[in-house]
Amino acid sequence: MIGAGNDPLMRKLEPAPAGRFSKESKVETLSGTHLIVESKVESLSGTDLIVVSNREPYEHRRLKGRLVCRHTDGGLTSALDPVMRRLGGTWVAWGSGEADRETVGPGDLVEVPPDAHSYTYRLRRVWLSPEEVKGGYLGYANEVLWPLCHVTLDRVAYLKAFWSAYRALNYRFADAVLDEIRQRPGPVWVHDFQLALLPGLIKKTVPDSRVALFWHIPWPGPDVFRILPERRELLEGLLAADCLTFQTAGYVREFAECAHQFLGAEVDRSHDTVQHRGHRTKLTAQAISVDFRYISDLAKTAEVESLMILARRRLGIRQGIRMGLGVDRLDYTKGLLKRFWALDTFFTRYPQYRGRFIFVQVAVPTRSEVEAYRRYREVIRETASEINARHAGGGWHPIEYLEGRIEFSTLVAYYRMADLAVVSSVYDGMNLVAKEYVASQVDEAGVLLVSQMAGASDELTDGLIVNPYDPEGLADAIKQALEMPEEERRRRMRTMRRHLQTHDVHGWVDRCLRDAGVRSEDTQGPGG
Ligand code: F6P
Repeated sequence: MIGAGNDPLMRKLEPAPAGRFSKESKVETLSGTHLIVESKVESLSGTDLIVVSNREPYEHRRLKGRLVCRHTDGGLTSALDPVMRRLGGTWVAWGSGEADRETVGPGDLVEVPPDAHSYTYRLRRVWLSPEEVKGGYLGYANEVLWPLCHVTLDRVAYLKAFWSAYRALNYRFADAVLDEIRQRPGPVWVHDFQLALLPGLIKKTVPDSRVALFWHIPWPGPDVFRILPERRELLEGLLAADCLTFQTAGYVREFAECAHQFLGAEVDRSHDTVQHRGHRTKLTAQAISVDFRYISDLAKTAEVESLMILARRRLGIRQGIRMGLGVDRLDYTKGLLKRFWALDTFFTRYPQYRGRFIFVQVAVPTRSEVEAYRRYREVIRETASEINARHAGGGWHPIEYLEGRIEFSTLVAYYRMADLAVVSSVYDGMNLVAKEYVASQVDEAGVLLVSQMAGASDELTDGLIVNPYDPEGLADAIKQALEMPEEERRRRMRTMRRHLQTHDVHGWVDRCLRDAGVRSEDTQGPGG
């Protein structure tokens, strides 16, 4: 899920009134100013689950001097927020918003979501130092682990200093989590590659705590993982967890192979466990998903229908013009450049579609402090303009490039309108855009093109599975989607919708926690 931005349709983002904050503060949203009176944050849910991720679900900022609260971007927070609303508990995450400190109370806690009157949970903010952000998050996590796990090896920009900052970042999180466990003992569910050392640090202090970790991105094979000088420390940090869950069975296999090769850990393939230094870790695969019912219901609302009318007008999508859609963080793993090359090929090969098909690309800036991301953004912008200049005519251009954050209901309007959606990641742990598109397709008329390199292609097999490295093949798949008989489109989309109905984010969390041996009474939140 991606957030709001610069164009009028995208700008609405600053969200609704604040929830209960722990200090007196004025919070301004689009709907007005709200005086938030001092109130002690306390457990509403009775749930003790402790979720930990680097990225927080909500951040506070100052916009022209006013305090605003907004959703953050990315698959992890969009998937976990509805789950936490259901389960309650505490989410420990980096307080990345410039005004975050103004809104927390004792224990650095703030109750979220800001617009809720019930079904809230506690957000505990962790304050990272500039060195931890620069070297730990931007450096080791984003310039080393991210490209390494996505096997874009030329982009690995390793520096020794990154490692000590990454360790410091993990220690910083460990302090907060251990304090949380002391106050409200409960199972700990850690998320993602920024926090690989955390299970080890928690278990060292509280050996009988229950710790699980979900790895959201791909796990590479030993031939790639050996590049990492700290491969042993990283594997040991992870293997301290009771349960490690990956997106696909393939990543589980690669992880087990790395544990075996680099630590000499004992792998029991029949029980999917790894034993190292006397500790047994369970390995499982559970594909993350979306809140299918929520998205599908939202897609049918009058609000979304009027946003569709507005969007059609704004994008110049008149009767008879077909629409393709791409929605991505501006990340080089998403394969935007190759997608644009494929569109170039498409309009060159099939000129009959000039003036009759438009591709809307929503591109959400991300990690812009990292040079590789800044350069990627420039290349993407330039390529879109070049292709537009090459094929445009008669007031029409092939790519409508919308850079910025986008409000979720607007996004759902785009998803519902789109005749086809293209997910062409060069490598991707799962890709929730693919699943959001299917969940929004209430008319069952659209076609999903999904990369064979994204975890989502294992499940959404009724999409057209495409190879992002083959622009001509992708161009032909776009044509195939546009010319696919209605009956076939509906059959494929219906099958995928049925699958997601039974494999939604709530099922995913239940399965992950069951794998981790977390008892259901640990997670009996207000939503049941
Ligand atoms: O999918 C990996 C991930 O790190 C998620 O945690 C998140 O959805 C996304 O990438 C955004 O990354 P960041 O937190 O660096 O903005």
